[in-house]
Amino acid sequence: MKKFFVCALMATLLAAVPAFAQKSYVNGIDPNYPPFAYVDEKTGQPAGFDVDSLNWIAKTMGFEITHKPMAWDGIIPALVAKQIDMVGSGMSITPERAKVVQFSDPYWTVSRVFLVPANSNLTAADILSQKIKLGVQRGTSEANAIKQEQQEKGYPFELRFYESAPLAVEDLLNGRIQAALMDELPADDAIAKGRAVKKAGTHGKPDGFGVALRKDDKELRALIDEGYRKLMADPYWKELQKKYLNK
Ligand code: ARG
Repeated sequence: MKKFFVCALMATLLAAVPAFAQKSYVNGIDPNYPPFAYVDEKTGQPAGFDVDSLNWIAKTMGFEITHKPMAWDGIIPALVAKQIDMVGSGMSITPERAKVVQFSDPYWTVSRVFLVPANSNLTAADILSQKIKLGVQRGTSEANAIKQEQQEKGYPFELRFYESAPLAVEDLLNGRIQAALMDELPADDAIAKGRAVKKAGTHGKPDGFGVALRKDDKELRALIDEGYRKLMADPYWKELQKKYLNK
């Protein structure tokens, strides 16, 4: 009993001294971006390739991490306003974002694809040249890129904006839109889940994913970069790819 109290006392004292207490960071995630980040329906816990990667990195590098589900559209402002400390949630490294935040070294590369209903005949060329409705997730790199491209090239489609990629898939299935543009892995995820959709070609250049951090946060940047280097050299990296990305 006495021993317990001494231990408890020591733990309290240690936690009160910043040098001994583990730092604790909050990662903002989009809860609807499987397989990179999502909230597991059974456990109610954040899960996904990025969530598990960062949990491993936190354990290895000696810090604590929690994952906070939030709206993708406001996630960078939340990072800048210090409501969260990082965004490790399938975020593409883009020059526009890099004006406001810094990115870790890239840890993954994805292509963008058009998704159409399984019984559709639309090709990528059709999608860019017809008066169809095209769905994208609000606040994504692909939404901004296609909007800009449309302005430059005068594509006739009408853009529809969604809170998440799965919501765009729903509207594809009920016919409100004829095609959607998204990263390849969430598209594969919808197909794997048996949704009646298929890919209709890639669009644009592949994107690199990185963890977004506040520009002045050099300490966390170093922890994340070093953590990913260690993770990529560990067998767990392959395990994660098998588990989430069918690689
Ligand atoms: N790669 C795109 C972006 O960075 C889509 C990412 C969407 N990711 C997410 N967690 N919602 O904007």
